[in-house]
Amino acid sequence: MKPQPLNIMHIVGARPNYMKIAPIMAEMVLRPQLFRQTCVHTGQHYDANMSEIFFHDLGMPQPDIYLKVGSGTHAEQTARIMLAFEPLVLQERPDWVIVVGDVNSTIACALVCAKLGIPVAHVEAGLRSFDRSMPEEINRLLTDQIADLLFTPSKDGDANLLREGIPAQKIHFVGNVMIDTLVRMLPKIEANPTPARLGLKEREYVLVTLHRPVNVDDPQRLQAIMGALVRIAKDLPVVFPVHPRTRKQLAEIGFDEANFAGEKAGLRLLEPLGYLDFLALMRSARLALTDSGGIQEETTFLGVPCLTARPNTERPVTVEVGTNRLIDSTPEAILSAVEQALNVPDVQKGRIPDFWDGKAAQRIVEVFAQLAAR
Ligand code: UD1
Repeated sequence: MKPQPLNIMHIVGARPNYMKIAPIMAEMVLRPQLFRQTCVHTGQHYDANMSEIFFHDLGMPQPDIYLKVGSGTHAEQTARIMLAFEPLVLQERPDWVIVVGDVNSTIACALVCAKLGIPVAHVEAGLRSFDRSMPEEINRLLTDQIADLLFTPSKDGDANLLREGIPAQKIHFVGNVMIDTLVRMLPKIEANPTPARLGLKEREYVLVTLHRPVNVDDPQRLQAIMGALVRIAKDLPVVFPVHPRTRKQLAEIGFDEANFAGEKAGLRLLEPLGYLDFLALMRSARLALTDSGGIQEETTFLGVPCLTARPNTERPVTVEVGTNRLIDSTPEAILSAVEQALNVPDVQKGRIPDFWDGKAAQRIVEVFAQLAAR
């Protein structure tokens, strides 16, 4: 008897999810005899420049289903995703649900599936910051406990999962799917005119992104960080595409475009950018200053020095072998780290971690192909 294709349901919700699901979908579509795919967008992120533009840039099909949950407190958002997702998954009865990363959509959908006995695979499993004050760390720990298949991007992920009692046969070290997308998009990134359009010269500007609650939700801390950015911008242009959370907080402290003049002119606040425009800015930057997870990985792949304004990282490989360095988010620490990075050329050259080679999705899909063949 001919085997039935596996029904796979992919979950995306927030900006960092799209580039992780895209290569898996692209790989599965090549094997229609083995896979039928549905993509569900929870609507955690909903602005066009936090969502729609990525489907266009990444050449992804539009999601089949939108749950339109929107923003809220963590409990509200997570609960709304669960309430909207449960009837859908009961109706569709997929063979596997694939969740990625560490956002609220990840844990919400994984938890619904675990209770219904629907198998869940977690892509980017095993990452740990060991900092439970981060909502993402809670999402990672809990998702990994209930997932049936765990795909890790680096070997530290395997070690963390084994230590937490996850059986070895559930864990597959496959590499980094985000880097798959970067490898696939590199020609378009290289051809993208955004830096030139903004009048920026190759390796002569600093790219900044900040959106972690710990850095942006406290008005005093945010004010101090912005002060440091203004200082840096006196020497080198600073480009800062601003996340909606940060935009709101900047409005609270009265730091918006209206303040732009004179000494602040070298600091450019932009709206959030699409994938290609943003990666083009990253590739040509002299330095990145961030608190994002994905940017630590992308700069490591591109060999761009990265300063991560956080006390810890769930991606230690980017510090051990890559171009990343953790720094405090006080203005003094930021200024001294930036000065050092600018004055000592190529402080950290870095190496690309194992299996960050553009083939992680192929390895994932191979595991599912073997399940389909059973
Ligand atoms: C979420 C993820 C974080 C990830 C980040 C990437 C969780 C717990 N956090 O954080 O891990 O790094 O996404 O962007 O899931 N907003 C808009 N428009 C949007 C989306 C959000 O205006 O399209 C506003 C919301 O109203 C809210 C704020 O931005 O006030 C934060 O959004 P939310 O999804 O709650 O968390 P993020 O900070 O984006």
